[in-house]
Amino acid sequence: MKYVLEVSGLKKTFKNKSMEIKALDGLSFKVKKGEILGLLGPNGAGKTTATNIIIGLTTQDSGKIKFFGKPPCEESRNKINTSTAYKILNGGLTIKQNLKVYAMMYNVKNANEKIDGLLKTFDIYEIRNKLVYDLSSGQKTRVNLCKSLINDPEILFLDEATAGLDPEVALKVRDVIRKLKCTVIFTSHIMSEVEELCDRIAFMKKGKILKVGTLKEIKKLVDENTLIINFSKIPKNYKTILEKYDLLKIKNKKAWIELKNPDDLHNITNDLIKSGFKIKHIQIKEPTLEEIFMHYYE
Ligand SMILES: Nc1ncnc2c1ncn2[C@@H]1O[C@H](COP(=O)(O)OP(=O)(O)O)[C@@H](O)[C@H]1O
Ligand SMILES: [Mg+2]
Repeated sequence: MKYVLEVSGLKKTFKNKSMEIKALDGLSFKVKKGEILGLLGPNGAGKTTATNIIIGLTTQDSGKIKFFGKPPCEESRNKINTSTAYKILNGGLTIKQNLKVYAMMYNVKNANEKIDGLLKTFDIYEIRNKLVYDLSSGQKTRVNLCKSLINDPEILFLDEATAGLDPEVALKVRDVIRKLKCTVIFTSHIMSEVEELCDRIAFMKKGKILKVGTLKEIKKLVDENTLIINFSKIPKNYKTILEKYDLLKIKNKKAWIELKNPDDLHNITNDLIKSGFKIKHIQIKEPTLEEIFMHYYE
């Protein structure tokens, strides 16, 4: 398998006058061509530091990075790009002027056409002559996204790149990302977004990867599903009967029970029927990525 990005043993310590902060502590991961890898982790896990080192904005203390099987070089740098919630635009220039600067840096042919196309994709063509200084944070986010696609990157780093977008625009951006024919390394605090977009997810903590896998594999980390039962009839002493299970909630003849083992389903439902419950509907809910995240980082 050919990897477009290989990161091995990245270490980075920030040294301030009074203390040292170990931001990366041997970070390693590999990304295959065309996949969307989600980097998830609590604040301070090292996601931004990792992204900044990989794209060449800052340097590592040790560890190696390979793009397309080779150490970073001018050729590979031209094939990557990034969008981040952090400020990288020039407030004193208009949206279009900012994008022109980047188009020049990447030697983009037909820059005007390319820029206009991107502005239209992200619905900011009408405001292209506005100063970046006067934009809302959501509008700046969209300019950053245009900037990140200006060189048709083969690897795109999106670090909290959808921050500040209203739901409608965020939906559109996810649609654009999904249709991109490039490899994406994606960090976001919005779990549903990661769940929807990413082919693989890596859990980061204290500068390292704890687990990496497909959503299916990650979901297996937590066995507990929730059994949701709608009853058409419940016996008078229902509370006492339900007490023996890991009951999460009961409301309006609907019970939420923790299902630690799928094999328990048969016994629980049989038991309930024998005790006088009449079941109308049963549903088993897998944990969401957010629930797994909370479970994993407790
Ligand atoms: N320039 C810096 N100077 C000092 N400490 C930093 C700097 N950048 C990041 N850190 C620290 O490194 C750790 C990782 O930060 P960061 O990579 O921003 O995490 P994340 O993006 O996962 O929230 C944090 O403890 C943060 O405070
Ligand atoms: Mg960050």
